[in-house]
Amino acid sequence: MHRDLDPQTAAAASQLAESTGSIAGKDAYWMPFTANRHFRKAPRLLARAKGMQYWTPEGREVLDGIAGLWCVNAGHGREKISAAIARQTETMDYAPPFQMGHPLAFETAERLADIAPEGLNKVFFTNSGSEAVETALKMAIAYHRARGEGQRTRLIGRERGYHGVNFGGISVGGMVANRKMFGTMLGGVDHIRHTHDLSKNAFSRGQPEHGAELADDLERLVALHDASTIAAVIVEPVAGSTGVLIPPKGYLERLRAICDKHGILLIFDEVITGFGRLGSPFGAQHFGVTPDLMTVAKGITNGCVPMGAVFARQFIYDAFMNGPEHIIEFFHGYTYSAHPLACAASIGTLDTYADDGLLTRAASMAGHFERALHGLAEHPHVIDVRNIGLVGGIELDPIPGSPGKRAFDVFLECWAQGVLVRFTGDTIALSPPLIIENEHIDRIVETLGAALKKLA
Ligand SMILES: Cc1ncc(COP(=O)(O)O)c(C=O)c1O
Repeated sequence: MHRDLDPQTAAAASQLAESTGSIAGKDAYWMPFTANRHFRKAPRLLARAKGMQYWTPEGREVLDGIAGLWCVNAGHGREKISAAIARQTETMDYAPPFQMGHPLAFETAERLADIAPEGLNKVFFTNSGSEAVETALKMAIAYHRARGEGQRTRLIGRERGYHGVNFGGISVGGMVANRKMFGTMLGGVDHIRHTHDLSKNAFSRGQPEHGAELADDLERLVALHDASTIAAVIVEPVAGSTGVLIPPKGYLERLRAICDKHGILLIFDEVITGFGRLGSPFGAQHFGVTPDLMTVAKGITNGCVPMGAVFARQFIYDAFMNGPEHIIEFFHGYTYSAHPLACAASIGTLDTYADDGLLTRAASMAGHFERALHGLAEHPHVIDVRNIGLVGGIELDPIPGSPGKRAFDVFLECWAQGVLVRFTGDTIALSPPLIIENEHIDRIVETLGAALKKLA
């Protein structure tokens, strides 16, 4: 599946990479979610990518263990996607999405609805996961108002949830570092507890056995606030950014049942679990639980062009479709919603996923991935290994007084050895491109194992 660049393109690409390789004296870039000062002392630069590989500006190979940032599901440099984008730039660069449309937007929505969980047949486009989350939260509140329950404004998130970085997303999110600097955020938000319990579930393979009853936290919040004030609950089916937290068996089913009982909308944030990560097109299908709204991004364009989307059930859309027909029904949208380049990239991506069977491939790779990962269980400082589909988490014992430092050091050592992994807190996270082969999995795990031993 790995297709190399032809020699001419490769030469041009490395020349470009070399010419832009140094950041010395270039001080303007304030890097996101980065230790800027530390980075500048020892920059980690990527200049070229193909298949499972990145290359640094100096030409050093780095195996991609995290699909860029959980987004390059079909691997890097896929021809169908770049050709579709190139064609579209020549045909039409931009079209306004308000009160106007372009055919590709309708086609992209249709293609996405075709692979979506049953019933999620309406698609609203955004430009990122964060925007998809804001859109879904606003849709939920506005939906209740449109059908005469305007007092249902409360939003419920979950501890250790990550829903992007905008104000709605950090309000329902549950990562303290992402929240504590930003004042009071949205009012009327509450949280259920997270499901991560190493005392009962350490070294689980797939869904942990214990913790379905944590969904009952929602009943507790209903008792506290009354269901008539609650618009929606938002969770990630598998929480990625806070360290790969896999839902206990029965948990999502229970959450769904409680939402149904009380007329609360259930939102799944599938920015990470969407587009084949778990071995089904979406987490909802994998777990057999269908939400009312579903947010996606990342794999929607294989990371090539920024795009996000909200999938909604028909009844939500229908609630908005009242009043005079010439009046806008939902006062929300972005200049770049359904951007032609993003739509072209998305169709190229969906074609690529279909050609290579990638939306279900993780299911056939998950066995080897699981066995390899759990081989790290006895390594120094490993306190948990967990996995589902092609997502894995290796949690390390924190260095006393320096939380996050041990995982950061492992990340740096893997980078030095030519493997890109991710870390969050003291958990190493893996989410490789879905084109991965067994030998890549072995290389990633061997590199991690060697790093853990070296740093012990
Ligand atoms: C579950 C989830 N929601 C939302 C986001 C935010 O997406 P973006 O960075 O595209 O705004 C992310 C990003 O990692 C995510 O994992």
